[in-house]
Amino acid sequence: MHKREPPSGEESSRSNSPSLYPERPAKRTRLSFSNGWPESNDETIKVHIIQAKLDASTISELFFLIERQRAEQLAASSSLKRMFELRNDPLEADVIVTAVRMRKRLERHVSWDLAQQKALVLPQWLRNSVKQGYPAPCADYAALRELHGETEENCPDEECGTSLPCASTPQSRATSAIVGPLQAPVPPNLKYTAHYSCARACPLVCINQDLIEELEVIRRSRELEGLDRNALSYERGIAAIKSYPKRVTPETFHEVTTLPYLGEKLCFKVNEFIKTGTIPEAREIATSERYRALAAITTVYGIGPATARTLYDKGVRTIEHLESYYDVSSDGDASNLDTFDAVTPNGRPIPQQDPPDLPIKVALALRKDFEIKIPRAEVEEMHDVVMRELFAIQPGCKSMIVGGYRRGKLESNDVDIVICPPKAEDIDEVKGLCAKLVKCLHDKALVTNVMHLSGFHTHDPFRLRNFDSLEKALTVFVLPPDGKRKRVHRRLDLIFALPESYWTAIIGWTGSKMFQRDLRLWAKVEKGMKFDSSGLNRRYDSKLFYPKSEKDVFDILGLDWVDPTLRNADA
Ligand code: UTP
Ligand code: MG
Repeated sequence: MHKREPPSGEESSRSNSPSLYPERPAKRTRLSFSNGWPESNDETIKVHIIQAKLDASTISELFFLIERQRAEQLAASSSLKRMFELRNDPLEADVIVTAVRMRKRLERHVSWDLAQQKALVLPQWLRNSVKQGYPAPCADYAALRELHGETEENCPDEECGTSLPCASTPQSRATSAIVGPLQAPVPPNLKYTAHYSCARACPLVCINQDLIEELEVIRRSRELEGLDRNALSYERGIAAIKSYPKRVTPETFHEVTTLPYLGEKLCFKVNEFIKTGTIPEAREIATSERYRALAAITTVYGIGPATARTLYDKGVRTIEHLESYYDVSSDGDASNLDTFDAVTPNGRPIPQQDPPDLPIKVALALRKDFEIKIPRAEVEEMHDVVMRELFAIQPGCKSMIVGGYRRGKLESNDVDIVICPPKAEDIDEVKGLCAKLVKCLHDKALVTNVMHLSGFHTHDPFRLRNFDSLEKALTVFVLPPDGKRKRVHRRLDLIFALPESYWTAIIGWTGSKMFQRDLRLWAKVEKGMKFDSSGLNRRYDSKLFYPKSEKDVFDILGLDWVDPTLRNADA
Protein backbone atom coordinates (compact mmCIF):
# COMPACT_ATOMS: atom_id res chain seq x y z
CA MET A 1 0.00 0.00 0.00
CA HIS A 2 2.69 2.48 0.91
CA LYS A 3 5.87 3.04 -0.97
CA ARG A 4 8.62 1.95 1.38
CA GLU A 5 11.64 2.33 -0.84
CA PRO A 6 13.13 5.75 -1.51
CA PRO A 7 12.87 6.99 -5.05
CA SER A 8 15.68 5.78 -7.27
CA GLY A 9 17.72 8.05 -9.43
CA GLU A 10 15.70 6.95 -12.41
CA GLU A 11 14.23 9.70 -14.44
CA SER A 12 10.57 10.25 -14.84
CA SER A 13 8.58 13.14 -16.10
CA ARG A 14 5.94 12.40 -13.44
CA SER A 15 7.89 11.46 -10.39
CA ASN A 16 5.03 11.90 -7.96
CA SER A 17 3.61 8.50 -8.61
CA PRO A 18 0.03 8.11 -7.41
CA SER A 19 0.98 4.65 -6.18
CA LEU A 20 2.75 6.30 -3.26
CA TYR A 21 -0.59 6.73 -1.60
CA PRO A 22 -3.44 4.36 -0.94
CA GLU A 23 -6.38 4.51 -3.29
CA ARG A 24 -9.37 6.11 -1.68
CA PRO A 25 -12.59 4.17 -1.96
CA ALA A 26 -15.48 5.54 -3.98
CA LYS A 27 -17.45 5.88 -0.75
CA ARG A 28 -15.33 8.84 0.32
CA THR A 29 -15.82 10.69 -2.94
CA ARG A 30 -19.60 10.70 -3.04
CA LEU A 31 -20.74 14.29 -2.91
CA SER A 32 -23.88 15.57 -4.51
CA PHE A 33 -24.53 19.19 -5.36
CA SER A 34 -27.67 21.26 -5.33
CA ASN A 35 -28.14 25.03 -5.70
CA GLY A 36 -24.41 25.45 -5.66
CA TRP A 37 -23.93 23.80 -2.26
CA PRO A 38 -22.91 20.23 -1.63
CA GLU A 39 -25.82 18.31 -0.16
CA SER A 40 -25.28 16.29 2.92
CA ASN A 41 -25.20 12.52 2.50
CA ASP A 42 -24.20 9.48 4.51
CA GLU A 43 -20.61 10.62 4.47
CA THR A 44 -21.31 14.09 5.83
CA ILE A 45 -20.26 14.45 9.45
CA LYS A 46 -22.90 16.34 11.35
CA VAL A 47 -21.54 18.51 14.10
CA HIS A 48 -23.30 20.30 16.94
CA ILE A 49 -21.36 22.93 18.86
CA ILE A 50 -22.23 23.66 22.49
CA GLN A 51 -21.37 27.31 22.89
CA ALA A 52 -21.13 27.32 26.68
CA LYS A 53 -17.58 27.90 27.98
CA LEU A 54 -16.41 29.01 24.52
CA ASP A 55 -15.49 32.65 23.98
CA ALA A 56 -17.01 34.54 21.07
CA SER A 57 -13.89 34.32 18.91
CA THR A 58 -13.63 30.55 19.32
CA ILE A 59 -17.31 30.11 18.48
CA SER A 60 -16.94 32.11 15.28
CA GLU A 61 -13.68 30.32 14.46
CA LEU A 62 -15.36 26.89 14.74
CA PHE A 63 -18.40 27.95 12.72
CA PHE A 64 -16.14 29.50 10.11
CA LEU A 65 -14.03 26.32 9.88
CA ILE A 66 -17.07 24.29 8.89
CA GLU A 67 -18.47 26.87 6.50
CA ARG A 68 -15.13 27.41 4.81
CA GLN A 69 -14.62 23.69 4.35
CA ARG A 70 -18.02 23.44 2.66
CA ALA A 71 -17.20 26.38 0.41
CA GLU A 72 -13.85 24.86 -0.52
CA GLN A 73 -15.43 21.50 -1.25
CA LEU A 74 -17.63 23.29 -3.72
CA ALA A 75 -14.88 25.41 -5.25
CA ALA A 76 -12.54 22.50 -5.68
CA SER A 77 -14.99 19.63 -6.03
CA SER A 78 -12.46 18.04 -3.70
CA SER A 79 -12.79 14.30 -3.74
CA LEU A 80 -10.35 13.58 -0.95
CA LYS A 81 -12.35 14.85 1.97
CA ARG A 82 -15.39 14.21 4.07
CA MET A 83 -17.66 17.13 4.52
CA PHE A 84 -18.58 18.59 7.90
CA GLU A 85 -21.95 20.20 8.51
CA LEU A 86 -23.41 22.16 11.40
CA ARG A 87 -26.54 20.99 13.18
CA ASN A 88 -28.52 23.17 15.59
CA ASP A 89 -30.16 20.17 17.19
CA PRO A 90 -27.73 17.87 19.06
CA LEU A 91 -30.09 14.98 18.34
CA GLU A 92 -29.20 15.22 14.63
CA ALA A 93 -25.47 15.41 15.19
CA ASP A 94 -22.87 12.64 14.99
CA VAL A 95 -20.39 14.61 17.01
CA ILE A 96 -20.93 17.19 19.75
CA VAL A 97 -18.12 19.69 20.15
CA THR A 98 -17.84 21.17 23.63
CA ALA A 99 -15.43 22.73 26.07
CA VAL A 100 -17.62 21.56 28.96
CA ARG A 101 -15.89 18.81 30.88
CA MET A 102 -18.27 18.19 33.80
CA ARG A 103 -21.37 16.00 33.63
CA LYS A 104 -23.57 18.40 35.64
CA ARG A 105 -22.73 21.35 33.44
CA LEU A 106 -23.18 19.30 30.27
CA GLU A 107 -26.65 18.20 31.31
CA ARG A 108 -27.76 21.85 31.12
CA HIS A 109 -27.35 21.53 27.34
CA VAL A 110 -27.73 17.86 26.45
CA SER A 111 -29.41 15.02 28.31
CA TRP A 112 -27.08 12.36 29.65
CA ASP A 113 -28.98 9.77 27.71
CA LEU A 114 -28.35 11.58 24.42
CA ALA A 115 -24.73 12.32 25.31
CA GLN A 116 -24.11 8.59 25.64
CA GLN A 117 -25.22 8.09 22.03
CA LYS A 118 -22.83 10.65 20.56
CA ALA A 119 -19.13 11.37 20.34
CA LEU A 120 -18.41 14.29 22.70
CA VAL A 121 -15.17 15.99 21.80
CA LEU A 122 -13.10 19.07 22.54
CA PRO A 123 -12.92 21.89 19.95
CA GLN A 124 -9.44 20.78 18.84
CA TRP A 125 -11.01 17.66 17.33
CA LEU A 126 -12.83 19.88 14.84
CA ARG A 127 -9.71 21.88 13.99
CA ASN A 128 -7.64 18.76 13.39
CA SER A 129 -10.40 16.92 11.53
CA VAL A 130 -11.07 19.80 9.15
CA LYS A 131 -7.34 20.27 8.62
CA GLN A 132 -6.77 16.65 7.63
CA GLY A 133 -10.06 16.26 5.77
CA TYR A 134 -11.57 13.38 7.72
CA PRO A 135 -12.49 12.80 11.35
CA ALA A 136 -9.67 12.50 13.83
CA PRO A 137 -10.04 9.70 16.40
CA CYS A 138 -12.63 11.10 18.80
CA ALA A 139 -11.36 9.20 21.83
CA ASP A 140 -8.19 11.27 21.83
CA TYR A 141 -10.31 14.39 22.23
CA ALA A 142 -13.01 13.05 24.55
CA ALA A 143 -14.47 16.01 26.45
CA LEU A 144 -15.70 13.96 29.40
CA ARG A 145 -13.70 11.24 31.01
CA GLU A 146 -16.90 9.32 31.88
CA LEU A 147 -17.91 9.25 28.19
CA HIS A 148 -14.55 8.20 26.79
CA GLY A 149 -15.80 4.74 25.76
CA GLU A 150 -19.01 6.04 24.17
CA THR A 151 -17.10 8.77 22.37
CA GLU A 152 -14.74 6.19 20.90
CA GLU A 153 -17.61 3.92 19.91
CA ASN A 154 -19.72 6.68 18.32
CA CYS A 155 -16.86 8.33 16.45
CA PRO A 156 -17.72 8.65 12.73
CA ASP A 157 -14.31 7.36 11.63
CA GLU A 158 -15.56 3.79 12.07
CA GLU A 159 -14.41 2.39 8.72
CA CYS A 160 -10.74 3.15 8.96
CA GLY A 161 -9.71 -0.39 8.32
CA THR A 162 -11.19 -0.43 4.86
CA SER A 163 -10.50 3.08 3.70
CA LEU A 164 -8.20 5.85 4.83
CA PRO A 165 -5.23 5.21 7.04
CA CYS A 166 -6.49 5.94 10.50
CA ALA A 167 -4.95 6.26 13.89
CA SER A 168 -7.96 5.24 15.87
CA THR A 169 -7.25 1.55 15.66
CA PRO A 170 -4.74 0.13 18.12
CA GLN A 171 -2.89 -1.60 15.27
CA SER A 172 -2.25 1.57 13.34
CA ARG A 173 -1.24 3.39 16.53
CA ALA A 174 1.25 0.71 17.34
CA THR A 175 2.85 0.72 13.93
CA SER A 176 2.95 4.38 13.13
CA ALA A 177 1.22 6.57 15.69
CA ILE A 178 0.19 8.67 12.74
CA VAL A 179 -2.98 10.67 12.36
CA GLY A 180 -2.20 12.13 8.93
CA PRO A 181 -3.82 10.85 5.80
CA LEU A 182 -0.98 10.48 3.30
CA GLN A 183 2.15 8.98 4.62
CA ALA A 184 4.59 6.14 4.75
CA PRO A 185 4.92 3.95 7.85
CA VAL A 186 7.57 5.03 10.34
CA PRO A 187 10.67 2.85 9.92
CA PRO A 188 12.09 1.59 13.24
CA ASN A 189 15.53 3.10 12.58
CA LEU A 190 14.17 6.64 12.85
CA LYS A 191 14.17 7.37 16.59
CA TYR A 192 12.08 10.18 18.02
CA THR A 193 14.87 10.88 20.47
CA ALA A 194 17.31 11.87 17.66
CA HIS A 195 18.77 15.35 18.07
CA TYR A 196 18.27 16.49 14.45
CA SER A 197 14.79 16.58 12.94
CA CYS A 198 16.26 15.27 9.66
CA ALA A 199 16.91 11.99 11.52
CA ARG A 200 13.39 11.68 12.93
CA ALA A 201 9.97 10.83 11.46
CA CYS A 202 7.65 13.84 11.58
CA PRO A 203 4.11 13.21 10.31
CA LEU A 204 1.97 15.92 8.75
CA VAL A 205 -0.57 15.74 11.56
CA CYS A 206 0.72 14.18 14.76
CA ILE A 207 -1.04 12.64 17.72
CA ASN A 208 -0.41 15.80 19.78
CA GLN A 209 -1.50 18.20 17.05
CA ASP A 210 -3.69 20.18 19.48
CA LEU A 211 -0.62 20.86 21.64
CA ILE A 212 1.39 21.75 18.53
CA GLU A 213 -1.25 24.30 17.48
CA GLU A 214 -1.01 25.98 20.90
CA LEU A 215 2.79 26.14 20.79
CA GLU A 216 2.61 27.40 17.20
CA VAL A 217 0.61 30.45 18.35
CA ILE A 218 3.45 31.37 20.72
CA ARG A 219 6.12 30.65 18.08
CA ARG A 220 4.31 32.73 15.51
CA SER A 221 3.89 35.64 17.91
CA ARG A 222 7.63 35.60 18.69
CA GLU A 223 8.33 35.63 14.94
CA LEU A 224 5.88 38.49 14.38
CA GLU A 225 7.58 40.46 17.15
CA GLY A 226 11.00 39.92 15.58
CA LEU A 227 12.17 37.65 18.45
CA ASP A 228 13.75 35.19 16.07
CA ARG A 229 15.93 33.25 18.53
CA ASN A 230 13.00 32.65 20.81
CA ALA A 231 10.82 31.70 17.85
CA LEU A 232 13.48 29.17 16.83
CA SER A 233 13.42 27.58 20.30
CA TYR A 234 9.70 27.01 19.91
CA GLU A 235 10.22 25.77 16.35
CA ARG A 236 12.69 23.19 17.60
CA GLY A 237 10.44 22.13 20.47
CA ILE A 238 7.52 21.79 18.06
CA ALA A 239 9.63 19.61 15.75
CA ALA A 240 10.57 17.34 18.67
CA ILE A 241 6.95 16.91 19.81
CA LYS A 242 5.87 16.40 16.18
CA SER A 243 7.81 13.14 16.07
CA TYR A 244 6.84 11.95 19.56
CA PRO A 245 4.49 9.02 18.90
CA LYS A 246 2.60 8.91 22.19
CA ARG A 247 -0.12 11.18 23.49
CA VAL A 248 1.18 13.67 26.10
CA THR A 249 -0.42 12.72 29.42
CA PRO A 250 0.62 12.81 33.09
CA GLU A 251 2.05 9.33 32.49
CA THR A 252 4.21 10.28 29.50
CA PHE A 253 5.15 13.77 30.73
CA HIS A 254 8.44 12.66 32.25
CA GLU A 255 9.55 11.14 28.94
CA VAL A 256 8.46 14.29 27.08
CA THR A 257 10.83 16.33 29.26
CA THR A 258 13.74 14.24 27.97
CA LEU A 259 13.03 15.01 24.29
CA PRO A 260 15.59 17.17 22.46
CA TYR A 261 15.06 20.94 22.81
CA LEU A 262 12.36 20.54 25.46
CA GLY A 263 13.79 22.99 28.01
CA GLU A 264 12.27 24.09 31.30
CA LYS A 265 9.97 26.75 29.82
CA LEU A 266 8.58 24.50 27.12
CA CYS A 267 8.04 21.64 29.56
CA PHE A 268 6.13 24.01 31.83
CA LYS A 269 3.82 24.85 28.94
CA VAL A 270 3.37 21.19 28.02
CA ASN A 271 2.43 20.50 31.61
CA GLU A 272 -0.12 23.33 31.55
CA PHE A 273 -1.55 21.78 28.41
CA ILE A 274 -1.81 18.35 30.01
CA LYS A 275 -3.65 19.80 32.99
CA THR A 276 -6.05 22.16 31.20
CA GLY A 277 -6.12 21.24 27.49
CA THR A 278 -4.77 24.70 26.57
CA ILE A 279 -1.72 26.90 27.18
CA PRO A 280 -2.86 30.12 28.89
CA GLU A 281 -0.19 32.24 27.20
CA ALA A 282 -1.23 30.94 23.75
CA ARG A 283 -4.89 31.75 24.47
CA GLU A 284 -3.96 35.22 25.66
CA ILE A 285 -1.85 35.87 22.56
CA ALA A 286 -4.44 34.45 20.17
CA THR A 287 -7.08 36.87 21.41
CA SER A 288 -4.85 39.95 21.64
CA GLU A 289 -5.49 42.78 19.20
CA ARG A 290 -1.82 43.10 18.33
CA TYR A 291 -1.34 39.42 17.45
CA ARG A 292 -4.52 39.30 15.41
CA ALA A 293 -3.56 42.44 13.52
CA LEU A 294 0.04 41.36 12.81
CA ALA A 295 -1.11 37.86 11.79
CA ALA A 296 -3.74 39.31 9.43
CA ILE A 297 -1.38 41.85 7.87
CA THR A 298 1.32 39.23 7.19
CA THR A 299 -1.16 37.03 5.31
CA VAL A 300 -0.63 39.45 2.44
CA TYR A 301 2.11 38.14 0.17
CA GLY A 302 5.25 40.28 0.46
CA ILE A 303 4.52 41.75 3.89
CA GLY A 304 6.86 40.37 6.54
CA PRO A 305 6.81 40.87 10.32
CA ALA A 306 8.95 44.06 10.29
CA THR A 307 6.69 45.84 7.77
CA ALA A 308 3.62 44.56 9.63
CA ARG A 309 4.91 46.09 12.89
CA THR A 310 5.53 49.42 11.15
CA LEU A 311 2.03 49.34 9.68
CA TYR A 312 0.60 48.48 13.10
CA ASP A 313 2.38 51.49 14.59
CA LYS A 314 0.68 53.58 11.92
CA GLY A 315 -2.72 52.33 13.09
CA VAL A 316 -3.34 49.47 10.66
CA ARG A 317 -5.31 46.71 12.42
CA THR A 318 -7.19 44.89 9.69
CA ILE A 319 -6.97 44.01 6.00
CA GLU A 320 -9.56 46.72 5.36
CA HIS A 321 -7.27 49.31 7.00
CA LEU A 322 -4.45 48.00 4.84
CA GLU A 323 -6.56 48.38 1.73
CA SER A 324 -7.26 52.01 2.58
CA TYR A 325 -3.59 52.55 3.38
CA TYR A 326 -2.55 51.21 -0.02
CA ASP A 327 -5.62 52.62 -1.73
CA VAL A 328 -6.91 49.29 -3.05
CA SER A 329 -10.59 48.47 -3.56
CA SER A 330 -11.81 45.72 -1.25
CA ASP A 331 -13.79 43.76 -3.83
CA GLY A 332 -10.90 41.30 -4.14
CA ASP A 333 -11.26 41.35 -7.90
CA ALA A 334 -7.76 40.82 -9.22
CA SER A 335 -8.67 41.92 -12.73
CA ASN A 336 -8.94 45.59 -11.61
CA LEU A 337 -5.26 45.68 -10.89
CA ASP A 338 -2.41 47.69 -12.15
CA THR A 339 0.20 44.99 -11.87
CA PHE A 340 3.88 45.67 -11.68
CA ASP A 341 4.55 43.06 -14.23
CA ALA A 342 2.50 44.44 -17.01
CA VAL A 343 -0.48 42.14 -17.55
CA THR A 344 -3.90 41.42 -16.15
CA PRO A 345 -5.18 37.86 -15.86
CA ASN A 346 -6.77 38.19 -19.30
CA GLY A 347 -3.47 39.26 -20.83
CA ARG A 348 -4.35 42.95 -21.33
CA PRO A 349 -1.24 45.13 -21.01
CA ILE A 350 -1.55 47.76 -18.31
CA PRO A 351 0.60 50.62 -17.14
CA GLN A 352 3.37 50.24 -14.58
CA GLN A 353 3.26 52.25 -11.38
CA ASP A 354 5.51 53.06 -8.48
CA PRO A 355 7.39 49.75 -7.91
CA PRO A 356 7.80 49.66 -4.09
CA ASP A 357 4.04 49.79 -3.46
CA LEU A 358 2.82 47.76 -6.34
CA PRO A 359 3.70 44.25 -5.24
CA ILE A 360 1.73 44.74 -2.05
CA LYS A 361 -1.16 46.23 -4.00
CA VAL A 362 -1.15 43.22 -6.30
CA ALA A 363 -0.96 40.83 -3.38
CA LEU A 364 -3.78 42.63 -1.59
CA ALA A 365 -6.05 42.31 -4.58
CA LEU A 366 -5.12 38.65 -4.98
CA ARG A 367 -5.34 37.78 -1.29
CA LYS A 368 -8.80 36.20 -1.49
CA ASP A 369 -7.58 33.86 -4.21
CA PHE A 370 -4.39 33.08 -2.29
CA GLU A 371 -6.43 32.16 0.79
CA ILE A 372 -8.11 29.32 -1.12
CA LYS A 373 -5.96 26.22 -0.71
CA ILE A 374 -4.96 24.15 -3.71
CA PRO A 375 -6.21 20.56 -3.76
CA ARG A 376 -3.83 17.85 -4.94
CA ALA A 377 -5.70 17.28 -8.20
CA GLU A 378 -5.26 20.93 -9.16
CA VAL A 379 -1.58 20.87 -8.20
CA GLU A 380 -1.14 17.98 -10.62
CA GLU A 381 -3.14 19.74 -13.33
CA MET A 382 -0.93 22.83 -13.00
CA HIS A 383 2.17 20.66 -13.23
CA ASP A 384 0.85 19.01 -16.39
CA VAL A 385 0.07 22.35 -18.05
CA VAL A 386 3.50 23.79 -17.19
CA MET A 387 5.35 20.71 -18.41
CA ARG A 388 3.38 20.64 -21.67
CA GLU A 389 4.44 24.23 -22.39
CA LEU A 390 8.03 23.50 -21.40
CA PHE A 391 8.16 20.48 -23.68
CA ALA A 392 7.39 22.73 -26.65
CA ILE A 393 10.39 24.93 -25.79
CA GLN A 394 12.84 22.31 -24.54
CA PRO A 395 12.06 18.60 -24.80
CA GLY A 396 13.71 16.15 -22.41
CA CYS A 397 13.29 18.04 -19.12
CA LYS A 398 12.41 16.05 -16.02
CA SER A 399 10.45 17.46 -13.12
CA MET A 400 8.98 16.82 -9.73
CA ILE A 401 6.26 18.53 -7.72
CA VAL A 402 7.84 19.29 -4.36
CA GLY A 403 6.88 21.43 -1.31
CA GLY A 404 3.97 20.51 0.90
CA TYR A 405 2.36 18.45 -1.87
CA ARG A 406 5.24 16.00 -1.78
CA ARG A 407 5.09 15.86 2.01
CA GLY A 408 1.50 14.60 1.71
CA LYS A 409 -0.54 17.77 2.26
CA LEU A 410 -4.06 17.39 0.92
CA GLU A 411 -4.10 21.10 0.16
CA SER A 412 -1.22 23.46 -0.49
CA ASN A 413 -0.77 27.21 -0.30
CA ASP A 414 1.35 27.25 -3.44
CA VAL A 415 2.79 24.87 -6.03
CA ASP A 416 6.54 24.23 -6.13
CA ILE A 417 8.04 22.44 -9.12
CA VAL A 418 11.71 21.52 -9.55
CA ILE A 419 12.71 21.11 -13.18
CA CYS A 420 15.94 19.74 -14.62
CA PRO A 421 16.94 20.54 -18.21
CA PRO A 422 18.68 17.80 -20.20
CA LYS A 423 22.45 17.56 -19.71
CA ALA A 424 24.28 20.16 -21.79
CA GLU A 425 27.95 20.52 -22.74
CA ASP A 426 27.82 24.22 -22.05
CA ILE A 427 25.75 25.94 -19.38
CA ASP A 428 24.85 28.61 -21.96
CA GLU A 429 22.72 26.01 -23.79
CA VAL A 430 20.27 25.83 -20.88
CA LYS A 431 20.70 29.32 -19.46
CA GLY A 432 17.52 31.38 -19.48
CA LEU A 433 15.19 28.41 -19.86
CA CYS A 434 13.23 29.49 -16.79
CA ALA A 435 12.71 33.00 -18.19
CA LYS A 436 11.71 31.53 -21.59
CA LEU A 437 9.12 29.28 -19.96
CA VAL A 438 7.74 32.12 -17.87
CA LYS A 439 7.46 34.32 -20.96
CA CYS A 440 5.65 31.58 -22.84
CA LEU A 441 3.24 30.98 -19.93
CA HIS A 442 2.72 34.72 -19.71
CA ASP A 443 2.02 35.02 -23.45
CA LYS A 444 -0.71 32.40 -22.99
CA ALA A 445 -2.16 34.31 -20.01
CA LEU A 446 -1.28 31.43 -17.69
CA VAL A 447 1.24 33.45 -15.70
CA THR A 448 -0.14 36.84 -14.69
CA ASN A 449 2.63 38.14 -12.45
CA VAL A 450 6.28 37.46 -11.73
CA MET A 451 7.46 38.34 -8.24
CA HIS A 452 11.04 37.12 -8.68
CA LEU A 453 13.18 35.80 -11.51
CA SER A 454 16.83 34.78 -11.18
CA GLY A 455 19.25 32.93 -13.41
CA PHE A 456 21.91 30.19 -13.38
CA HIS A 457 25.47 31.00 -12.47
CA THR A 458 28.48 28.76 -12.31
CA HIS A 459 28.62 26.82 -9.06
CA ASP A 460 30.76 28.67 -6.55
CA PRO A 461 31.78 26.35 -3.73
CA PHE A 462 33.24 29.20 -1.66
CA ARG A 463 30.00 31.15 -1.96
CA LEU A 464 32.08 34.31 -2.15
CA ARG A 465 29.65 35.81 -4.58
CA ASN A 466 25.95 35.43 -4.82
CA PHE A 467 26.15 32.70 -7.46
CA ASP A 468 23.54 30.03 -7.81
CA SER A 469 23.14 26.81 -9.74
CA LEU A 470 19.38 27.32 -9.77
CA GLU A 471 17.10 29.45 -11.90
CA LYS A 472 13.99 30.52 -10.07
CA ALA A 473 10.71 32.16 -10.92
CA LEU A 474 8.13 32.97 -8.27
CA THR A 475 4.92 33.63 -10.17
CA VAL A 476 1.15 33.94 -10.09
CA PHE A 477 -0.55 31.35 -12.29
CA VAL A 478 -4.10 30.68 -13.49
CA LEU A 479 -5.21 27.50 -15.21
CA PRO A 480 -6.91 28.00 -18.57
CA PRO A 481 -10.70 28.45 -18.26
CA ASP A 482 -12.59 25.16 -18.26
CA GLY A 483 -16.04 26.66 -18.75
CA LYS A 484 -17.34 25.20 -15.48
CA ARG A 485 -15.94 27.30 -12.67
CA LYS A 486 -14.01 30.46 -12.05
CA ARG A 487 -10.28 29.82 -12.07
CA VAL A 488 -8.37 30.88 -8.98
CA HIS A 489 -5.02 32.70 -9.05
CA ARG A 490 -2.36 30.43 -7.59
CA ARG A 491 1.20 30.98 -6.49
CA LEU A 492 3.58 28.89 -8.58
CA ASP A 493 7.30 28.55 -7.88
CA LEU A 494 9.44 27.14 -10.69
CA ILE A 495 12.96 26.05 -9.78
CA PHE A 496 15.30 25.01 -12.56
CA ALA A 497 18.26 22.97 -11.34
CA LEU A 498 21.25 21.78 -13.35
CA PRO A 499 21.61 17.98 -13.28
CA GLU A 500 24.30 18.13 -10.56
CA SER A 501 21.99 20.05 -8.22
CA TYR A 502 18.66 18.45 -9.17
CA TRP A 503 18.45 16.15 -6.14
CA THR A 504 19.65 18.72 -3.61
CA ALA A 505 17.08 21.16 -5.05
CA ILE A 506 14.40 18.51 -4.63
CA ILE A 507 15.32 17.92 -1.00
CA GLY A 508 15.63 21.64 -0.27
CA TRP A 509 12.31 22.54 -1.86
CA THR A 510 10.47 19.53 -0.47
CA GLY A 511 11.12 20.99 3.01
CA SER A 512 9.78 21.26 5.56
CA LYS A 513 11.68 24.39 6.57
CA MET A 514 12.84 22.90 9.88
CA PHE A 515 13.81 19.61 8.24
CA GLN A 516 15.94 21.54 5.76
CA ARG A 517 17.46 23.73 8.45
CA ASP A 518 18.52 20.68 10.44
CA LEU A 519 19.86 19.00 7.30
CA ARG A 520 22.15 22.00 6.78
CA LEU A 521 23.19 21.95 10.43
CA TRP A 522 23.82 18.20 10.36
CA ALA A 523 25.96 18.56 7.22
CA LYS A 524 27.99 21.35 8.81
CA VAL A 525 28.41 20.09 12.38
CA GLU A 526 28.48 16.34 11.93
CA LYS A 527 30.00 15.98 8.46
CA GLY A 528 32.02 19.13 7.76
CA MET A 529 29.97 19.67 4.62
CA LYS A 530 27.84 22.40 3.15
CA PHE A 531 24.36 21.49 1.99
CA ASP A 532 21.69 23.64 0.43
CA SER A 533 19.26 23.49 -2.47
CA SER A 534 21.95 24.45 -4.94
CA GLY A 535 24.51 21.78 -4.05
CA LEU A 536 26.57 19.69 -1.69
CA ASN A 537 30.28 20.12 -1.02
CA ARG A 538 32.99 19.27 1.50
CA ARG A 539 34.15 22.30 3.45
CA TYR A 540 37.88 21.67 3.89
CA ASP A 541 38.73 21.12 0.22
CA SER A 542 35.51 22.34 -1.46
CA LYS A 543 35.09 18.96 -3.17
CA LEU A 544 31.75 18.95 -4.98
CA PHE A 545 29.43 15.95 -4.88
CA TYR A 546 27.10 15.00 -7.72
CA PRO A 547 24.30 12.92 -6.17
CA LYS A 548 22.50 10.59 -8.59
CA SER A 549 19.31 10.30 -6.55
CA GLU A 550 17.69 11.70 -3.45
CA LYS A 551 18.80 8.62 -1.53
CA ASP A 552 22.32 9.36 -2.68
CA VAL A 553 22.18 12.73 -0.87
CA PHE A 554 21.12 11.00 2.36
CA ASP A 555 23.92 8.42 1.88
CA ILE A 556 26.59 11.07 1.28
CA LEU A 557 25.43 12.87 4.41
CA GLY A 558 25.42 9.60 6.39
CA LEU A 559 21.72 9.84 7.19
CA ASP A 560 18.97 7.22 7.09
CA TRP A 561 16.35 7.72 4.43
CA VAL A 562 13.31 9.73 5.55
CA ASP A 563 10.23 9.47 3.35
CA PRO A 564 9.04 12.95 2.23
CA THR A 565 5.74 12.40 4.05
CA LEU A 566 7.70 12.10 7.29
CA ARG A 567 9.62 15.36 6.84
CA ASN A 568 6.87 17.56 8.34
CA ALA A 569 8.98 18.98 11.15
CA ASP A 570 7.07 22.28 11.17
CA ALA A 571 3.71 22.81 12.88
P1 UTP B 1 6.78 26.61 0.72
O1 UTP B 1 6.89 27.99 1.29
O2 UTP B 1 6.17 26.47 -0.61
O3 UTP B 1 6.01 25.75 1.81
O4 UTP B 1 8.23 26.05 0.68
P2 UTP B 1 5.34 24.33 1.67
O5 UTP B 1 6.00 23.49 2.67
O6 UTP B 1 5.33 23.87 0.25
O7 UTP B 1 3.85 24.55 2.15
P3 UTP B 1 2.73 25.45 1.43
O8 UTP B 1 3.23 25.86 0.10
O9 UTP B 1 2.55 26.64 2.36
O10 UTP B 1 1.50 24.63 1.36
C1 UTP B 1 8.57 24.72 0.34
C2 UTP B 1 9.96 24.44 0.77
O11 UTP B 1 10.86 25.09 -0.10
C3 UTP B 1 11.95 25.60 0.59
C4 UTP B 1 11.67 25.49 2.08
O12 UTP B 1 12.50 24.52 2.62
C5 UTP B 1 10.25 25.00 2.15
O13 UTP B 1 10.11 23.98 3.09
N1 UTP B 1 12.18 26.99 0.14
C6 UTP B 1 11.14 27.86 0.03
C7 UTP B 1 13.44 27.38 -0.18
O14 UTP B 1 14.38 26.59 -0.10
N2 UTP B 1 13.66 28.66 -0.59
C8 UTP B 1 12.65 29.56 -0.70
O15 UTP B 1 12.89 30.72 -1.09
C9 UTP B 1 11.36 29.14 -0.38
MG1 MG C 1 4.69 25.13 -1.31
